Order: sequence, then C-alpha cells, then structure tokens
Amino acid sequence: MAYNLLKGKRGIIFGALDPNSIAWKTAERVHEEGGAFVLTNAPIAMRMGQINDLAAKTGAEVIPADATNEEDLAHLVAKATEILGGKLDFVLHSIGMSVNVRKGKAYTDENYDFTTKGWDVSALSFHKVMKSLYKADAMNEWGSIVALTYMAAQRTFPDYNDMADNKAYLESVGRSFGYFFGKEKQVRVNTISQSPTPTTAGQGVKGFDGFIAYAEKMSPLGNATAAECADYTVSLFSDLTRKVTMQNLFHDGGFSNTGVSQEVIEYFSK
Ligand SMILES: NC(=O)c1ccc[n+]([C@@H]2O[C@H](COP(=O)([O-])OP(=O)(O)OC[C@H]3O[C@@H](n4cnc5c(N)ncnc54)[C@H](O)[C@@H]3O)[C@@H](O)[C@H]2O)c1
Repeated sequence: MAYNLLKGKRGIIFGALDPNSIAWKTAERVHEEGGAFVLTNAPIAMRMGQINDLAAKTGAEVIPADATNEEDLAHLVAKATEILGGKLDFVLHSIGMSVNVRKGKAYTDENYDFTTKGWDVSALSFHKVMKSLYKADAMNEWGSIVALTYMAAQRTFPDYNDMADNKAYLESVGRSFGYFFGKEKQVRVNTISQSPTPTTAGQGVKGFDGFIAYAEKMSPLGNATAAECADYTVSLFSDLTRKVTMQNLFHDGGFSNTGVSQEVIEYFSK
C-alpha cells in the first residue's frame, strides 16, 4: 500500500545490484511513495548488475560512483542535484564488502590490505558520502540519511569476520556525523541494523543458511525481509520521523533482545 509519504522528495540510493538487494527493494518502495532519485553503484557493479532495469522501472537516472572515491562522490552529488532539480531529502548508503570474507581469510589471520580495502568500502565510505553532501550543502533541512548495518557490531558472530569491525565503525560514523548534520543543517542520520537477508552480500558469509534459519527461530516476529527493511527506510525518509537521529535502529523481528526462544530450547531438549 502506498501513502505518498515521499511525494516531492529527492534523493540518492546507493547499492542496488540485483532484485535481491535491500537497496533495490528500497528504490521500488520510494518510487511507490512518490520520491524521485538517482541510482548509483560502483562502476564494476554496473557491468555485473541489472541496475538499468530498475532505473527504467522507477524513472531514475544512473550515475556510477565508487563510494571510496571522493571525486566520484562530488560528481555524483553535483549531478544528482542538477538532474533532480534541487537539494536532496534522502540518501541510502547500502554498501558492504569484505575482501577477507571473499578470499576465505579467517578473522584470526586477516590480510590487512584486504582489511583496509573492506573497511574503506564498508565503513569509511559512509563518512565520505556524508562529507560530500555536507561540503556541497546538498541536503535540505529535515533531510534523512540512512545506512545499513548488522548486529555483529555489538555481538560476536564468528563468520561475519572483519565486517563486524566495519559495522561498528559505520555505526559510530553515523552518530558522529549525525551530530554535526543535526546541529548545522537539521538533517537526520541513522543506521538500520537489519536481520540476515538472502542477498549477494549476505550469502557471501560462510554458513549463511544455518545462520538465517537460526535467526528466524530466535526472532519472535521472524526475520525481517528486504521488502520490510525498505518499508522501514521509507518511514525514516518521511516527515513522520523528524526527530529521530544518531540512532542505531534494530529491524530484526526482536532478535537483538531475545536471550533464547522456545523453539531453540526444544531443539536442544531432544
Ligand atoms: N544481507 C544481509 O544479511 C544484511 C544484513 C544486515 C545488513 N546488511 C547490509 O545491507 C547493505 C546492502 O547489502 P545487501 O545485503 O543488499 O547486498 P548487495 O550485495 O545486494 O549490496 C551490496 C552493494 O554494495 C555495492 N558496493 C560494493 N563496493 C562498492 C563501492 N566501492 N562503491 C559503491 N558501491 C559498492 C555493491 O555493488 C552492491 O550493490 C550492506 O551494508 C550490508 O552489509 C545486509
């Protein structure tokens, strides 16, 4: 159901790779709610992905940008405001990648060049995106910036590897930049801590099937889907959440506050 929550609002959506991507579902929902946006992804992902299909469906233009490259980001922000006809109201950072995970390096045996690259892509890029928006004064007052994260920032999930550290850094950047964006530009910055979700990035984590099934059994409301995450993000982009900022918001069916569920007790009582 659509409520016109984002009518007249403009933004940038990072990270739609394929129809499973959380950013893809978010773009579809934002479009349904009347928002206009530019889609962006790393140039390499453009060749692999299907972003042009999404662009056609949502009336969006696509501007390639490597989120670790400040020049690309400055160009993206300038082009997006030009194409959309004014300052921005919302930005979604939906980017993550660990080279250590990809190459099968254990957390206890990290390759630090891989670690540095993954941190730049997954965590520092959030700072770089916000710095580009801030310097260009590209956000409207009461705008909203959201990044996606995972609970491994607070609790240990062994196979999440160095992404856990990257998410802890990302959440901290959200709080720190959120202070300055709030104080000086009346802009909100939040991170959404999402349930495990079957996407390209998610499925890269070792043992993902067991992991997602366990989370499903541990969450009183069940795992949150990518489409449900898109709904939540729309609410954070809307004018209904204007005083929510500098928060890490769990969108996980209650997983983060559940010690143990009846299903898990029964499984171990057999
Ligand atoms: N899938 C899950 O289980 C899960 C759970 C919680 C949080 N998240 C987070 O959600 C976000 C989106 O991931 P997803 O699950 O939709 O997977 P996805 O693989 O569809 O999206 C990840 C995106 O990051 C983009 N990317 C990688 N390097 C980039 C770069 N240098 N510049 C710009 N973009 C780059 C990829 O091209 C891709 O579009 C990530 O931050 C991820 O960590 C995912």
